[in-house]
Amino acid sequence: MNITSTPVMPLSPRPIIIIGAGGIVNDAHLPAYKIAGFPVMGIYDIDPAKAQRTAQQFGIPKTFASMDELVGLLPSNAIIDLAVPGSAIWGVLSQLPDHTPVLIQKPMGNDYAEAQSILSLCRQKQLPAAVNFQLRYAPFINAARSILQQGAIGELIDIEINVNVYMPWHLWPFVYGLPRVEILYHSIHYIDLVRSFFGNPASIYAKTVKHPVMEELASLRSDILMDYGDRLRASIHTAHCHRFGMRHQQSYIWLEGTEGAIKITMGVLKDYPKGVPDELEYISYVDNPDAQWQRVPLEGSWFPHAFIGSMAQLQRAAEGSLATPGNSVEDSIHTMACVEAAYRSSERGGEKI
Ligand SMILES: NC(=O)c1ccc[n+]([C@@H]2O[C@H](COP(=O)([O-])OP(=O)(O)OC[C@H]3O[C@@H](n4cnc5c(N)ncnc54)[C@H](O)[C@@H]3O)[C@@H](O)[C@H]2O)c1
Repeated sequence: MNITSTPVMPLSPRPIIIIGAGGIVNDAHLPAYKIAGFPVMGIYDIDPAKAQRTAQQFGIPKTFASMDELVGLLPSNAIIDLAVPGSAIWGVLSQLPDHTPVLIQKPMGNDYAEAQSILSLCRQKQLPAAVNFQLRYAPFINAARSILQQGAIGELIDIEINVNVYMPWHLWPFVYGLPRVEILYHSIHYIDLVRSFFGNPASIYAKTVKHPVMEELASLRSDILMDYGDRLRASIHTAHCHRFGMRHQQSYIWLEGTEGAIKITMGVLKDYPKGVPDELEYISYVDNPDAQWQRVPLEGSWFPHAFIGSMAQLQRAAEGSLATPGNSVEDSIHTMACVEAAYRSSERGGEKI
C-alpha cells in the first residue's frame, strides 16, 4: 500500500502577507512556509517592533507601518494570512479589499455570534476565506486518510480522541479571564477533525469542568460526544492538568473501521512544548485475518507541518486547482456551531435521575 503523509501542494504559490507577528506565526506559520517554499512578502503588526523582529528573523522583505500602507501596496495576487486574537479578526477583515483571499487563524471569533458576523462580512466582501483548523491536515491525518481511501480498514465507524496531559496554559496569557478556554481553544481542533471525517453531527452532548489547581482558568477538562446516530461513534475526552509525570500521559486518536483500525499518538501534546515523536500504526484484516499492526513512517508533525496543508488549501483555491478550500469559512462555521452546542449542553446538564 502507498501511504502518503504530505498534502497536495499548489502549482505556483502566491505571495503571502502576514497580519499579526505573535507566537503562532513565529512558531508554526513561518517555519511551515519555509519548509513548503511558500513566499512571504510582507508582515504587519499593531506592535511595529514585533513585526520588525519577525521580519528580520525570517528574512521577510517588507514590514508595513499601518493597515492603510498594507492595503495600498497589496499585490493583486496576494494571500493574507491573519493571525490575531479572535476579537480582532472582524476589524482587520473589514479593512481588506473585496475578493482578497485570506486565511484566518482559529478560532473564528470568540463564540458563534462572532463567527456568524465574520462569515457575513466574508460573504459581503466576497472574500475567499478559510480558517486555520490545521489538525485535519497534519501529516498523521493525511496518512490516515490515505489508508482509509484505499479501503484498508473498511468503513470508518468509530473516532475516539483521548488527551490526558499537562498543558502549560501560562504560555498563552490571553486565556486568563476568558469565559471559554478548553473547548474553544483546544478541543475545537478535535471537533473540526471529526467533522472532516463524519460531516456535521445531529447534536452534541458535552460536559466541561474546571480543575482545582488551575482555578483561575475557565473549564479545562471536557467530554464531548458528537451524535451521528446509532451506527457511528465520535467521542472526545480531554484533561490538561496531569501533574504525575510522563508514564501515564496519553494523547491519541483512534480510528476504527469495520475491517481494521488506526492508532495515532499525537506526540506534541506530551511533555509540551518539547513533545515526543508522533506515531501511526494500523492493522488491516482485508484479505488477511492474521495481519499484524504496521508502523507507518511520517514526514513531519502537527506543528508546524499541518500549517502547510491549511495554507495549501487556500493557495490551491486561489489558483483554481481546487474548487473550494476544505477549511473554508462556509465549512468552519459548522465547527463553531458545534463548539457553541457543546458549551450549551454542558450548561444545561444531563438527564435528571
Ligand atoms: N491553530 C492553532 O493551532 C493555534 C495555535 C496557537 C494560537 N492560535 C491562535 O492564533 C491567534 C494568535 O495567537 P498567538 O499565540 O500568536 O497570540 P499572540 O498574542 O502571541 O500574537 C497576536 C499578535 O497579533 C497582534 N495584533 C493584535 N491585534 C492586531 C491587529 N488589529 N492588527 C495587527 N496585529 C494585531 C498582536 O500585537 C500580537 O503580536 C489566537 O487567536 C490563537 O487562538 C492558533
